[in-house]
Amino acid sequence: MCGIVGYIGDKQAYPILIKGLQRLEYRGYDSAGIALLNKQTVLYKQKGKVSDLEAHISGRTTDGTIGIGHTRWATHGEPNNVNAHPHSSFNNKFIVIHNGIIENYSMLKTKLIKRGYKFSSETDTEVLANLIEFIYLTGKVTAELAVRLALSKVVGAYGLVVMCKDEPDKLIAARKGSPLVIGVGQGEYFIASDATPIVEYTKSVIYLNDDDVAVIKKDELKLKTIDNEDLTPKIQELDLDIGEIDKMGFDHFMLKEIYEQPKAISDTFRGRVRKDHSDIHLGGLHEVWDDLEKARRIIIIACGTSWHAGLVGEYLFEEFARVPVEVEYSSEFRYRKPIIFSDDVVIAISQSGETADTLAAIRIAKEAGAKVLGICNVVGASIPRETDAGVYTHAGPEIGVASTKAFTAQVTVLTMMALKLANKKNKISDDKFSSLINELTLIPEKIEIALKANKEIERIAALYKDSTNALYLGRGFLFPVALEGALKLKEISYIHAEGYPAAEMKHGPIALIDEQMPIIIAATKDSSYEKIVSNIQEVKARKGIVIAVVTEGDETIKGMADHVIEVPEAPEHLAPLLTVIPLQLLSYHVAVMRGCNVDQPRNLAKSVTVE
Ligand code: AGP
Ligand code: GLU
Repeated sequence: MCGIVGYIGDKQAYPILIKGLQRLEYRGYDSAGIALLNKQTVLYKQKGKVSDLEAHISGRTTDGTIGIGHTRWATHGEPNNVNAHPHSSFNNKFIVIHNGIIENYSMLKTKLIKRGYKFSSETDTEVLANLIEFIYLTGKVTAELAVRLALSKVVGAYGLVVMCKDEPDKLIAARKGSPLVIGVGQGEYFIASDATPIVEYTKSVIYLNDDDVAVIKKDELKLKTIDNEDLTPKIQELDLDIGEIDKMGFDHFMLKEIYEQPKAISDTFRGRVRKDHSDIHLGGLHEVWDDLEKARRIIIIACGTSWHAGLVGEYLFEEFARVPVEVEYSSEFRYRKPIIFSDDVVIAISQSGETADTLAAIRIAKEAGAKVLGICNVVGASIPRETDAGVYTHAGPEIGVASTKAFTAQVTVLTMMALKLANKKNKISDDKFSSLINELTLIPEKIEIALKANKEIERIAALYKDSTNALYLGRGFLFPVALEGALKLKEISYIHAEGYPAAEMKHGPIALIDEQMPIIIAATKDSSYEKIVSNIQEVKARKGIVIAVVTEGDETIKGMADHVIEVPEAPEHLAPLLTVIPLQLLSYHVAVMRGCNVDQPRNLAKSVTVE
């Protein structure tokens, strides 16, 4: 969700902080701010974009080699200049930036008000700033101890960085539930919510764990627990390239990421499928194949697009490995007292690896004794660190808030897992296994062909960009694709859209169909092809507009649909990887034509680190 950056060293902090905030814009936010610690400490904040903050600061003093910056995604108090971070404490001793929620803020605030504290914002964060200061002044303790004591009284989630005016040689960072990474430079340190602002300065990083507190001077870092136990910082090498976080000539990150899918998929299976297609090697699962083979059931937990990938996973595991699968929204799973057996295997899917509900669901599954595996894109994120084993999708950084290449990379991993498990359980022969692997390796070049329909899709988008509703239909493996197509349109173009299994149309949504309603149907040739052809007829009989995604050369559907978009032929279990491409492009073009902010849609955040 919101973004945190911090710098301490010999360089001017301001340009580093602004650039860092720009790098973090993709996470989603509504206001931004910066504080610089100097003889004269300055604090600037502004509702709106980082560019608005820059304009506000322009011409004012930005001197200082220590500073913090923040992009806020409002939870407590509306997005405005006052509620934006950083927050100063009442007596101006501390300046705090915070990501997360302080759940007991109201009780703490009441106590502080009784002790004479006044508040200027509605945020939970200001309560924390004042609590730290209250402990510091009344207890006459160091800033570090004040922070640790304050955090021990706090219920909730935080990633935070604190500056103290009386101790102007340090930053104090702490984490519980919201990610923080520290970049280690030569006589300088960088702090951020993820590695994107750090990678251009250093590749040596330390990921903070929950309950860690770091006291950072320009040439010294001390890591301890909130209870003052010393920890040894573990410095890791960052596997991220600066080129990967640029638009590389595309108008938007989303478009670049759509076009990167052939590479994302090849990178995800490269080195994992044997060259002669005889086997799949997933190193991260080495120790858990036994658990998977013996699993009574697989439970997949995820949110949003990752949940849609999970649905494709259900179809894959059940079809090939013949193991029962349940796919759950993490947010429902964590609160509904699910029945979890110790011989269940739980698979958590997450692009960011930081989704709060998925993390909480993982903890519940682990407590119940199940093996928990992760499928994650961001290396070193919380989910891969908390799961027992897992597989990384090698999609590269996904910056567009609308997930595209992460989805197809997740489906690629699920396909490899399902096929390998099926082969291990003797549900598919070695020959079949090998031919299915071969089919998977052909997908990247088929996506290249599917992408060639871009111009035609742009033309179709222009015809329907002013629609107020859209319906997406699909059957079998293409039902999750219908859900994903609808989600893409909703989130970036703000057009109401629904995804449905095509046969369910008769049980309700058919009432919505009229000559204004575009109905996007994933209808490639598969075992339910005849049935979906009938569904298309039913739509046409009610004068709906049909945009069908079909297999190359399908003259039957061409004869009945208003528009067809072709994708290459593929086995039906791989069709999601192809049919989703035109749906991503369609949403993209509609959103651009409607003047929407494609990469940072309103109200949304890239990683949802609050529940
Ligand atoms: C997808 O386009 C979304 N922006 C969103 O639904 C996303 O997939 C969801 O928040 C899950 O995120 P994760 O994969 O990082 O856990
Ligand atoms: N809860 C804090 C606020 O509303 C922080 C929100 C965030 O994570 O940006 O200000």
